[in-house]
Amino acid sequence: MANPLTRREALLGALTLAASQAVRAETAAVAAVAMDAGVQFGSAFDREVFSDAPYRALIAAECRAGALENSLKFDWLKPRGSKPDYTHADRLIDFAQTHGIALRGTALIWNDWEPDWLKALSRRDAAYVFDQHISETAGRFAGRIAAWDVVNEPFFPLHGRPGGFRKGVWFDALGATYVERAFRRAAAADPKALLILNEAFCEQNDAWGTAIRPLLAGLVRSLKDAGVRLDGVGFQGHLKPHLPHDYSAFADYLRGIAGLGATLHITELDVDDSSFPDAIPERDARVAETLTRFLDPVLRVARLRSVTLWHLSDRYSWYRSVPWYGDAVAKHGGRRDRKARSHVFDDQLRPKPAWAALRTAFEKARVR
Ligand code: G3I
Repeated sequence: MANPLTRREALLGALTLAASQAVRAETAAVAAVAMDAGVQFGSAFDREVFSDAPYRALIAAECRAGALENSLKFDWLKPRGSKPDYTHADRLIDFAQTHGIALRGTALIWNDWEPDWLKALSRRDAAYVFDQHISETAGRFAGRIAAWDVVNEPFFPLHGRPGGFRKGVWFDALGATYVERAFRRAAAADPKALLILNEAFCEQNDAWGTAIRPLLAGLVRSLKDAGVRLDGVGFQGHLKPHLPHDYSAFADYLRGIAGLGATLHITELDVDDSSFPDAIPERDARVAETLTRFLDPVLRVARLRSVTLWHLSDRYSWYRSVPWYGDAVAKHGGRRDRKARSHVFDDQLRPKPAWAALRTAFEKARVR
């Protein structure tokens, strides 16, 4: 039985829906079917929408929700010092608003990809930059951003930090309290945006995923106990079908997180196809089948509120720019030089079997 929406969720959903519908009479098939199931659907995108008109049109047509892949990140706003350059973020947010796309900002705070100038600061100065960045960024975009990943990827047990936290400038300056501090400052700077804690790897049942899940649940519980406004928890969903996984068990874990008082969001969904055969028909079928196996149990979770893909098309796949992808393919017997096909539209922006799989999953979820 679906949990009733809170007043805030209902209001935001209605405002977003009204904005979308006011802007676009016709919403594309999958996003409309998803909305019937109570789920906002969309995708990450970034500056390519200004140089690639067909991709811009596809994003505008198929997305009701979205995220900027990079342009709202600390290292992209402030690559060389604390003075921000909002040029790209402003233009992309205007694009999203024009097309009725409810945008999630990622991420205010992330202990990764930190620019050298930040790493060179004293802990005291880093703490000052931390506070200033959250207040000025969330404050500036208030009313234009529907949700924020306030903190991204808090945990990385291999770093050996107390509590399994990810090491980084923010953790080293403030300790584990940085998470609560970030949420309190973000809530003060933007009282309306949904505030989300976003994490990776929880979808997998290997040592890594099973280590992070209880840490994340404990953090959510402690934030809620401290009276922090934590509206939602995001699960990235970079699916790795070659690793141990039990997506029904993951759905039960999601129910536990929802039971702590948070809505649920799949924030960066795609499929690492490195373990699949080179042959494109087989590979595309396996990507589609993986999405079905994941979404069927997950979309049955009552408080699942949004599904955002990490790009619509293979054309902009992040798997094509990471050094490990070729090695991973070779390890599974594939051609090292092949290109990832992890998404729902191909390089020519044609829908792949995964697109039909998405639609079917949302159709089945309408009766959840
Ligand atoms: O293309 C430029 C290259 O010309 C330049 O020489 C080089 C110098 O650094 O940068 C290259 O751009 C890099 C880009 O990836 C290439 O695709 C950026 O520096 C780098 O920041 C960017 O990495 C992004 C990464 O997050 C770090 O921010 C990826 O685009 C983005 O897809 C990835 O997304 C993350 C989520 O934020 C969090 N979850 C995992 C997900 C995948 O790693």
